[in-house]
Amino acid sequence: MTTTKKVTIDRLRSQRWMAPDYMRAFTHRARMAQAGYRREEFMERPVIGIINTWSDISTCHRHLRDRAQSVREGILRKGGFPIELPALSLGEIWVKPTTMLYRNMLAMEVEELIRSHPLDGVVILAGCDKTTPGTLMGAFSMNLPTIFVPAGASSNAYFQGERVGTGTGTVKWLNERKAGRLSEESWLELEGSMTRTDGTCNTMGTASTMTGIVEIMGLCLPGAQSIPAVDSAHPRMASASGERIVDMVWEDLRPRNFLSEASFHNAAKVVLAIGGSTNACVHLPAMSGRLGIKFPIDIWEQYNRDIPVIANITPAGKFLMEDFHFAGGFRGLTKQLQSKLDMSAMTCTGKTLAENIANAKVHNEDIIRPLTNPVVNETGIAVLRGNLCPRGAIIKASAASKHLLKHSGRALVFDNHADLNKAMDDANLDVDETCVLILRNAGPKGAPGMPEWGNIPLPKKLLQKGVRDMVRISDSRMSGTHFGACILHVTPESYVGGPLALVKNGDIIELDVDARTLNLKVSDEELAQRRAVWVPPQPKYPRGWTRMYVEHVTQADEGADLDFLSGSELLDEPDIF
Ligand code: FES
Repeated sequence: MTTTKKVTIDRLRSQRWMAPDYMRAFTHRARMAQAGYRREEFMERPVIGIINTWSDISTCHRHLRDRAQSVREGILRKGGFPIELPALSLGEIWVKPTTMLYRNMLAMEVEELIRSHPLDGVVILAGCDKTTPGTLMGAFSMNLPTIFVPAGASSNAYFQGERVGTGTGTVKWLNERKAGRLSEESWLELEGSMTRTDGTCNTMGTASTMTGIVEIMGLCLPGAQSIPAVDSAHPRMASASGERIVDMVWEDLRPRNFLSEASFHNAAKVVLAIGGSTNACVHLPAMSGRLGIKFPIDIWEQYNRDIPVIANITPAGKFLMEDFHFAGGFRGLTKQLQSKLDMSAMTCTGKTLAENIANAKVHNEDIIRPLTNPVVNETGIAVLRGNLCPRGAIIKASAASKHLLKHSGRALVFDNHADLNKAMDDANLDVDETCVLILRNAGPKGAPGMPEWGNIPLPKKLLQKGVRDMVRISDSRMSGTHFGACILHVTPESYVGGPLALVKNGDIIELDVDARTLNLKVSDEELAQRRAVWVPPQPKYPRGWTRMYVEHVTQADEGADLDFLSGSELLDEPDIF
């Protein structure tokens, strides 16, 4: 395909570094010579940054070192000059206390990496839960031509003859083990079978939800989202992305040229259709905030009664990401959902969503269902309101036990995650299956970092009785691979004095998902008395990143970005001298 060049060489941003007859530019060229490049290799060519979140310890990203090489080859083929820049690798499983504490750090790093280097365009290699929103938030704030290479999911895994989904299977089998129904030998076997290859979780967890958002927003090549991490199509997609970014630089095609409010509405609809992670409810407002686009929490209510889950993928369904890909993949899903989407949205290909999927096919309508035959009819993500969550709370209704969607029970409250975990193994804990388990101090400021503690473990003595779900409430998040009647993101959080801070053991809590309500059955007078004697927690971090984070992080409904990073203003370019 020939490119219509809107940008001339003298307008390339990198030329500010490379071209002038000044001492600083001389030293840039001298350092390129030191690196072994001839002038004709880097002068007068688009310089493309490959932002790579590769690391040895993050198995979701371990293959990205090789993929960077494929991207590099694509860039060179099209006449660009690649520069690989490593960025913080947030491996969800390893980073403590939670990767969410560092999503904004990654966003800030990516923005400043791009700003401070002589780049004309950017290829992002990422895919684990926080690396997708983190890198994109930074890229949106810089607004250079950008293309995303999704890490891709790990391959199907099997345990005792059954497909086993990452994360989802862990919780399921952990509960069976606690209930005494899984032998130690089988537990060890599971450890070795759970995750077969490099790549992100093989379920429709947060990683695949977020890369689904990337694709529907047109930020990656069509179909890239569902290509398995270790499939030979993955390096081919990576090198094609390298080729495409060079054209995007000449076309001056930047995220803000094609991202709009409609793109974010499309994203919410896709999250509902794939049975996606509730983490999207935090990441989407954070991403849109970098573009000056509002993403109020009630967007979910605009669509959740109209868009059913049509992707039959764990945890909402029974298949895995590899099955999804071979059933038609993300392009197939977009085709099934097109009547609900704004298909005129422009994408990084320079074409509309409709053009990108013109020849898409669905090969298995059990895995990628038509809208007329959904996997789950219940609401996916519902927004609750009431005196316990004045600014809202989230429940993934499709992942909760139906009998708990309307429930009233006494509260059993924990102020601390460690105490809660110990208590759940206590045979004398005063709890039954009608209780409502509450965890507070688990929000953006309180934990801090809003960890995925919202899938509160069930009391061991109830697991042994056969109980597998209870109503649980917290101001934290839940892994996209988990399930249960977990009410999440209660806003405002308890740490800042939200009503969750005022609940006492034994209070009655009423949940009605159909009515979208969550209420504490305590009088306003009593709540006012409790508030009058409530003592705000003392700050725990006298210095460092965590202190800055706690002082500046916003609430869940605003995306938990740092207040000084949010906003759509483009900052000045650095001085060239
Ligand atoms: Fe990285 Fe699940 S742990 S995607």
